[in-house]
Amino acid sequence: MASHTKHIVLLVGSTGKTGSSIVRALAKLPEKYVIKALVRRSSMDKPIVQEFRNLGVEIVPGDLAGDTQESLETKLNNVDIVINATIPVEDGNQNKLFLAAKNASVKRVVPSDFGPSAPPGAMKYQDTKLKIRQFIIENEIPYTFIQAGWLTSLLFPQSHSVVGNSPMGKQFYGSGKVKTAYTALERVGEFVARIIGDPRTLNQTVQAYDGEATLEEVWTIASKVTGENFDDYTRLSAEDIESTLRDGPDFLTALLFEYNRSALIRGDNTVENAVSLGALDARVLYPDYVPLGLEEVAKQVYGKN
Ligand SMILES: NC(=O)c1ccc[n+]([C@@H]2O[C@H](COP(=O)([O-])OP(=O)(O)OC[C@H]3O[C@@H](n4cnc5c(N)ncnc54)[C@H](OP(=O)(O)O)[C@@H]3O)[C@@H](O)[C@H]2O)c1
Repeated sequence: MASHTKHIVLLVGSTGKTGSSIVRALAKLPEKYVIKALVRRSSMDKPIVQEFRNLGVEIVPGDLAGDTQESLETKLNNVDIVINATIPVEDGNQNKLFLAAKNASVKRVVPSDFGPSAPPGAMKYQDTKLKIRQFIIENEIPYTFIQAGWLTSLLFPQSHSVVGNSPMGKQFYGSGKVKTAYTALERVGEFVARIIGDPRTLNQTVQAYDGEATLEEVWTIASKVTGENFDDYTRLSAEDIESTLRDGPDFLTALLFEYNRSALIRGDNTVENAVSLGALDARVLYPDYVPLGLEEVAKQVYGKN
């Protein structure tokens, strides 16, 4: 480690859902972390950037697409840990960030994972993430890969009062009896804050999660908390999902259906499967972690607190 005792962490994608959860959690540990956030010039005026400044975060102007490897390297001078929480659609951007990190002697990089566990070939989006992991390993860059299961906010059905029909929100996928790991968004940051300062997780994949549940259990709790009956929502069988995927749907539908097939039909996203693929179980690493129960999360999701 560098001569200082605190870890200097630079976050890319800090203003997003996952990134902001991480910033807020790291900011609760000022004795452990100094936080820098790479923020695009076009986003400088967002209220969240002011919130970060108030939390003591140093804002570094930058753009993963526009910056060169060399300019990123300068911005990573003296940084110990780099976390990326952008949407990883173009791996070239992440690759250049991590090569810059290597040249700047960063001690650990965390690429943008934070999703469900799935083996190679289960879904294209995960394959993109796995390719980036492979790039990091091949280039001998110290890393931690963090999986978070399914974000609870996405697992619950939308309330009837929500206008619009987002593909996730009003559809029930599969038998409903397949277990899937989940984490509440606010807890992703809490896990990351524990994991990145832990020497046991260096060059490891870590499975973070609040719990595991079937879709049937999630929808039952949703009904209990909202008082709504969701039986009128569309039910999609495994064959419906396959035939939609065979028809070559648009990018977003393909992404969602592949996710659902992997997690809710194939059952890839369980802690047991993640561990069998080599991940460390975060709840074993951190036995003092108090998980958020599904009903508690449901109350948050539906504003019933
Ligand atoms: N477990 C799950 O169920 C789940 C759910 C959702 C996401 N995820 C994963 O979590 C990760 C982050 O997703 P998210 O939904 O949190 O992302 P998001 O909310 O869309 O945020 C994206 C972030 O990336 C920043 N960004 C975009 N382009 C950039 C660039 N060229 N240079 C620098 N920053 C840039 C955005 O900044 P601006 O403010 O400038 O736009 C924003 O801070 C992804 O890997 C995603 O797959 C997992």
